[in-house]
Amino acid sequence: MTTTLITGGTVVSATGRGLADVLIDGETIAAVLQPGSVLLGTDLAASVDRVIDATGRYVIPGGIDAHTHFELPFGGTEASDTFETGTRAAAWGGTTSVIDFAVQTYGTRIQDGLAKWHEKASGNCAIDYGFHQIVGDVTEDSLAALRALPDEGVSSFKLFMAYPGVFYSDDAQILKAMQVSRDTGMLTMMHAENGPAIDVLAAQLVEQGKTDPYYHGIARAWQMEEEATHRAIMLANLTGAPLYIVHVSAKQAVEQVAWARDKGQNVYGETCPQYLYQSLEEQLGASSPEWGRFEGAKWVCSTPLRSRAEGHQDSMWQALRTNDLQMVSTDHCPFCMKDQKELGIGDFRKIPNGIGSIEHRMDLMYQGVVTGELTLERWVELTSTTPARMFGLYGRKGVIQPGADADIVLYDPNGHTSIGLNKTHHMNMDYSAWEGFEIDGHVDTVLSRGKVVVDDNQYLGTKGDGRFLKRGLSQYLA
Ligand code: URP
Ligand code: ZN
Ligand code: ZN
Ligand code: ZN
Repeated sequence: MTTTLITGGTVVSATGRGLADVLIDGETIAAVLQPGSVLLGTDLAASVDRVIDATGRYVIPGGIDAHTHFELPFGGTEASDTFETGTRAAAWGGTTSVIDFAVQTYGTRIQDGLAKWHEKASGNCAIDYGFHQIVGDVTEDSLAALRALPDEGVSSFKLFMAYPGVFYSDDAQILKAMQVSRDTGMLTMMHAENGPAIDVLAAQLVEQGKTDPYYHGIARAWQMEEEATHRAIMLANLTGAPLYIVHVSAKQAVEQVAWARDKGQNVYGETCPQYLYQSLEEQLGASSPEWGRFEGAKWVCSTPLRSRAEGHQDSMWQALRTNDLQMVSTDHCPFCMKDQKELGIGDFRKIPNGIGSIEHRMDLMYQGVVTGELTLERWVELTSTTPARMFGLYGRKGVIQPGADADIVLYDPNGHTSIGLNKTHHMNMDYSAWEGFEIDGHVDTVLSRGKVVVDDNQYLGTKGDGRFLKRGLSQYLA
């Protein structure tokens, strides 16, 4: 077993920072020590197999992206990152665990959906991975199957109030699934948008000839997110289910989450980098010589990018500061422009929904530290520690302490990262939604369970090294 000492860095946790050395024994953190510690009369640095000099760098727990969609069949095509390419891109960006969504579609069994996801992932991941379960067909059978999932290490499931005819659940189905959530302690994750009403608005816009990607954002109005968020909260209140709202983008939806939390309800929310930085006007409304007004398709996702004039982005940053929202995930769901997003030329409803960001989440959120919106500790909390606690991984993941997996990132605050044309990212996409973003900071070295997978702009990971994470119940619930 290789012993490694990471020396001279500033170890950052969700609650503090300090100069410390980290001793790794094989795959596990063995000790966090005073810098330059002596053990049994020997200088520790002289007695380990490998020393990694972290001087001038932050030493943080590896990122945990709790919302990804690798190989998701959606919108008549399939998300373009596989478990292999997606976990490689994650590692490049300092993310060492992902939680992807296994899918049960209409008319199929939960057990089969989960088995299919194991098949897709097994032997292909460079970093550790877990699953949430998408329930696309709430029936008595699927509810029974759901009850058995915690034993399989799947302790959360996602329901959709959006996408009628695809993943949509009506209120009666949601109520029943939430009763299972209450009984088992599984976390209910909700895509909170009023799908049936949105579909009417979208059809009316298309009839009026308003077919550009921009109108995706008009049809999916913030009122539809606020309303669905409120409805989900009330159904959770009634049933006693713990509730986690995914990809929150509207300031009015945040107000709903905050209102429920202030009453003491177990309601949580995540937002995603795109809702912090990007907007209806600038991105969905963009045009280019290559794509004309269809350029905006690069940023078609649901919930949609919101109007900057209405202040949604500022409200997301504020919610991250005040803990009205607890986490940042990517909702990584990449589609290429060619042959995929293109399906929606002439009708925005046919553009496959999703943005790819898995490689950039740690960097993008670090910009919040640079601008003073977030503390260093809050950065670690939002991107690693809370995801671990929320989804039953804490202790193993999300923290640098003895006994934890040695998932560690050396982050250089004086480095620089240019997110350039598609050749400079590692996601399996023919464009980047983050093209042109200049990042203060750089992911220098990434360890996954003690193995260096990225170092000095070199990829050293191996497909198949990532293991399935059997998760426990949430450690975040009161
Ligand atoms: O646009 C998105 N978010 N695509 C992925 C599916 C989902 O709703 O999370
Ligand atoms: Zn969703
Ligand atoms: Zn998603
Ligand atoms: Zn550097």
